[in-house]
Amino acid sequence: MAQASPLGGSDVSALYTHRLTAPELAELKTLVDELTQSFGSVETAEFADACSLAAQQLPRRLRELAHRFKYLHLACGAVLLRGVPVDDERIGPSPSHWDAPWRNPPTLREEVTQCLLAAALGDIFGWRTQENGRFLRHIVPIPKERNEQLGGSSSTTLVWHNEEAFHEFRSDFLAILCYRNEEQAETILSYIGNLHIPDDKWRILSAPRFLILPDKSHLPDQNVSAHWRLDDHAFEHIQRMHSDPRPVPALSGARDKPFIQVDEAFMRAADGDEEAAQAFDWLLREFDAKKLGVVMEPGDMLWIDNKRAVHGRSIYQPNYGPRHRWLRRVNVTLSLRASLPYRESALGRHIV
Ligand SMILES: [Fe+2]
Repeated sequence: MAQASPLGGSDVSALYTHRLTAPELAELKTLVDELTQSFGSVETAEFADACSLAAQQLPRRLRELAHRFKYLHLACGAVLLRGVPVDDERIGPSPSHWDAPWRNPPTLREEVTQCLLAAALGDIFGWRTQENGRFLRHIVPIPKERNEQLGGSSSTTLVWHNEEAFHEFRSDFLAILCYRNEEQAETILSYIGNLHIPDDKWRILSAPRFLILPDKSHLPDQNVSAHWRLDDHAFEHIQRMHSDPRPVPALSGARDKPFIQVDEAFMRAADGDEEAAQAFDWLLREFDAKKLGVVMEPGDMLWIDNKRAVHGRSIYQPNYGPRHRWLRRVNVTLSLRASLPYRESALGRHIV
């Protein structure tokens, strides 16, 4: 049942929806015009820095929405912004692979818009071991990945996960913008605020009794590109997390507003801990029971709370070709200062 909100949007269970208004779009256009005059790519530290500053000039209602979402004043795990400008003609055909060129893309305005709206939540960043740190990933169907737990999959359910659940500096939020989704693929979400967690389950799930391995997108063979070559040293930290994962809890923080650290495909209870294995399975089935499906349309942007909601994607049949499904995704952190030892410099936005 949709509920009215003081912000003027609607709150449907785990999702808060807001359609951008004409005045908001006009203010947004002015900021995008300014940034595109200065930058030919969003993929530089200088752009990311300028974006953080420009986001302070976004329309007040969007900043208020981001503020309330960030600080858990809204009872939802995701916000759906509708009506973000996406020019279907200018963006050209959907790419066949994530390894698209970085510079002078036909999607520059859409990319700047997405980074700017994402920066209302915090600072955008990339992973050195994932597409060489590219901020804005392409999510497109890839035939040889169709059965994998990767963004290119389609024939298998992309199971419940937090993005980079294995990493201490995983993003606080994701901002996903839909360019095309004619196949009507369904993004799935589940919000921890909708779950009742009994004391016995909390005791187990909030203890460091679980191991999470880095997901496949951070492996060297998933990072072969025609546009750059990654130094093997970049993967040393990831390799250590593979060979010697540190036990972590699945839930943490405040008992009544917990944070989640879950990746169904790459996570398990410690060896021999049957009680933890059963509690983890219970949590996953609770996420299933409270699942929310969103069929994104062009111009839909999802802000997903990567610590209060898990996400995934249902099985779908891609229309492989120039109009196949095409989403873009960017990571957002609330604590850029904390990750400084893992970045190339204070200005740099790539975490190793
Ligand atoms: Fe994901």
